[in-house]
Order: sequence, then structure tokens, then C-alpha cells
Amino acid sequence: MALRKIVKHGDPVLRRKCLAVKQIDKEILRLIDDMFETMYDAPGIGLAANQIGVPLRLAVIDIQENGKKSPIVLINPKVVELKGRLFEEEGCLSIPGFLAPVKRYAFAKVEALNEKGFPVTLTGEGLLSRAFQHETDHLIGKFFVDRASLLKRLRMYGAIRRYKKTHPW
Ligand code: NI
Repeated sequence: MALRKIVKHGDPVLRRKCLAVKQIDKEILRLIDDMFETMYDAPGIGLAANQIGVPLRLAVIDIQENGKKSPIVLINPKVVELKGRLFEEEGCLSIPGFLAPVKRYAFAKVEALNEKGFPVTLTGEGLLSRAFQHETDHLIGKFFVDRASLLKRLRMYGAIRRYKKTHPW
């Protein structure tokens, strides 16, 4: 396992539409291990592969409910159902120092492959639902900020630009 460098907002890999994982081989399994290590170290509750510079449809999540680890691997995930509303503060490891509330769905159902290559259907409410939406957004090149209205989005990106000027990025 190895810690990987998390790429930050502004790096073009974060705007890429990521490509499907074709085969779950040793390299992919090592990548998954590295992603978990990097996410726990950050610390964060989710990490998409393009956040460490690899443009593949792969994300890891662990919301650590009640302080207990419960790692989730999403390979080629597809959101198949969204319900309800949430408006809560969100952040992103690729946009350090910035939190903002965005609209999300309170419930999400995701179909994906797990690390063994088996199809899985996962459902999440609340924080887990937001994590599913946040990470699958990364895989299509979107940040949580992009889920805000145009006016709010412009304001948020302005704040991020100002933050970048005074902090190492
Ligand atoms: Ni993020």
C-alpha cells in the first residue's frame, strides 16, 4: 500500500469523464488499496480515482458510521435511483479549506462492481447517499460546487480562487 498525492481543483484530470474499468487485475486491486490508504490518511470519507490522477470509473467510500470502518468499493458505478432532498454542507479533498451547502438527494441507489468483480446494488441515506453522489460526480468531471445554482457557483469559485492565492495548492 502506498499513499498517493491527492490532485487539487484546477488539475484537468478532475474534469475528465473517467473511463470504465475493463478488468479487475492486480494493478486495480493495488490502486484500490492505495485509494483507501490515501482517503483514511487525509482524512476523508470518499475518494475517486481521478483524485489521485487515474481517470478510471472507480471510487472508494467509508463514512465510518459510529467510528467503525465499513469500506465500500465502487467500480464502474451507476446511480439508478435518487429520492428526497438534502441541503447540507459538503467538502472535497481536492478543494481543501472550502465547505459549502449543496442540494443533494436524501436517498441514492447505486449499481457497481465490487473488488471481486461481482455486481452489487447499494443504497444509502443521508451522508452515505451524499457520498455516492459526490464520488460518482467526480467520475464525470464534476465537483460538488457544480451542483449549486449559477450565482452561488460563481461566488464559490471566486472564494476558491482567493483561497488558492494564499494557501499552498
Ligand atoms: Ni470530492
